[in-house]
Amino acid sequence: MSVAPLHRLYSHYSELPVSIRIMYSAALCILGMSYLFAMLYLFHTYSGRDGDAMTLSYDDLVIAYAGSGKGSRIESALRGPMSSMLPTDEAGAIVSWVQKGADQPTYETFVKPVLDKRCSSCHDGSNPHLVNLNGYDNLKKVTEQDTGTDVFTLVRVSHIHLFGITFIFFIMGTVFSHAYVRPVWIKYLVTGLPFLCLCVDVISWYMVKLYHPFAWVTMGAGAVTGLCFATMWFTSMYQMWIGGTPKPVAERGGGDIRVIG
Ligand code: HEC
Repeated sequence: MSVAPLHRLYSHYSELPVSIRIMYSAALCILGMSYLFAMLYLFHTYSGRDGDAMTLSYDDLVIAYAGSGKGSRIESALRGPMSSMLPTDEAGAIVSWVQKGADQPTYETFVKPVLDKRCSSCHDGSNPHLVNLNGYDNLKKVTEQDTGTDVFTLVRVSHIHLFGITFIFFIMGTVFSHAYVRPVWIKYLVTGLPFLCLCVDVISWYMVKLYHPFAWVTMGAGAVTGLCFATMWFTSMYQMWIGGTPKPVAERGGGDIRVIG
């Protein structure tokens, strides 16, 4: 199999002025650092959702995007730590009111009197450390079902993500375009895949809401992106400072004196 010839406009790192190589390397260092911080942030934000803070798992992502599937905070409180504060029939009635959508008319006629009697001694809002259950609006905050990150938040994060990450991989790809990689299709793949994964990743967040196993797609896209990032980073740094000039480049008359291959 013949090795793909050099493109007329291709230049290897060894043919670039040192100043550009310094700038490329500095940019790669900062991007590498940013990537590490991004991983830390991701881990910190998502890993504890399923009750296990040590790993970032499939369940963490499903809970983050689609919700835990468990009831609201007031339901878990009434079934758990607050169950002794009121008779079971009253607790049951409040839970079914919450599950039916927590409408205001029923609140006024039935729920409010119960809460005033059983809960307001602690939850009237005077203690800043306890949930304020005083009034319909405050109560509404603990009756909402956990349905995961809401669509509007996802839209906000999507546009930041799409704009931001496009810049990162545009820079990475530009630097990496000077690498000498054969077979050349590997280079095309590593350059292009992150952009594809970016789209797939963002779309998968919304899809997890509809069908949980899409969390695997979110993870896969992230993993492939990370792999491409690492490949471009290390290949570029190596060829820029350690690797020397590839033989086809030297034969064309370019590059430093040191020739490899
Ligand atoms: C004697 C005081 C007291 C009374 C009465 C009381 N609570 Fe609480 N409640 C607490 C304390 C303390 C906490 C926080 C500790 C905890 O989370 O276990 C709490 C936490 C809560 C929470 C938040 C749980 C979470 O998700 O963090 C809810 C909801 C709640 N109570 C509802 C109620 C309801 C409804 C009633 C009346 C039926 C009630 N409480 C009566 C003391 C009280």
